[in-house]
Amino acid sequence: MIVQYLGHAAVIVKDKEINAIIDPFISGNPNCPITVDELEKVTHIFVTHGHGDHLGDAVKIAKKFNSKIICNFEIGNYLSKLGLDVHTMHIGGRTNFGFGRVKMTPALHGSGISDGDEILEGGNPCGFIIEVEDKKLYHAGDTGLSLDMKLLQDENIDIAFIPIGGNFTMDIDDAVKAVEFIKPKIVVPIHYNTFPVIKADPFEFEKKVKESKVRVLSFGESIEI
Ligand code: NI
Ligand code: MN
Repeated sequence: MIVQYLGHAAVIVKDKEINAIIDPFISGNPNCPITVDELEKVTHIFVTHGHGDHLGDAVKIAKKFNSKIICNFEIGNYLSKLGLDVHTMHIGGRTNFGFGRVKMTPALHGSGISDGDEILEGGNPCGFIIEVEDKKLYHAGDTGLSLDMKLLQDENIDIAFIPIGGNFTMDIDDAVKAVEFIKPKIVVPIHYNTFPVIKADPFEFEKKVKESKVRVLSFGESIEI
């Protein structure tokens, strides 16, 4: 499995049968090193919640590549009205796709969808556990710290993407506790420094995490796990 960090919460997950993107906030993020036009064929799009910095360019990408969007029922209902191919799930559900299994995990956050002047109901925010071949990835989405994360240690997560920027999500100290609960082999800090209000030092996070290996990825950097 190759994972590429595009900044904020956007992550590409690539393997033989999948070229997925999680929370594709690309054109709105000045730090994102690529444009939508530079994406290779996207097979699947995972959306953790309805906020603009996560739903991002999902509609544009899905229209371009006919990608399947995996998200909660309410966001799926909104997107299917736009003619897109959606697979809806809900918190705690796990299902098999051709490339592997996906579980939708809880997140403590909001999920409203901005539509013109209105905010539409976007259901529950979530995270995802994505299994491809023998590797397991966890993307927390936007969330505060929760005791539920202790349950994730039984999943034997290979790589976890965890928000550290504070204000809307966990800050560094809470993210360190989350890592102690989840016990992933590798953890990648996300959702920081995109805006002044979520300024955080990923190397402070790296110093404070004791048991998992921290990989601070620059925008556009890929690693193979
Ligand atoms: Ni959010
Ligand atoms: Mn966010």
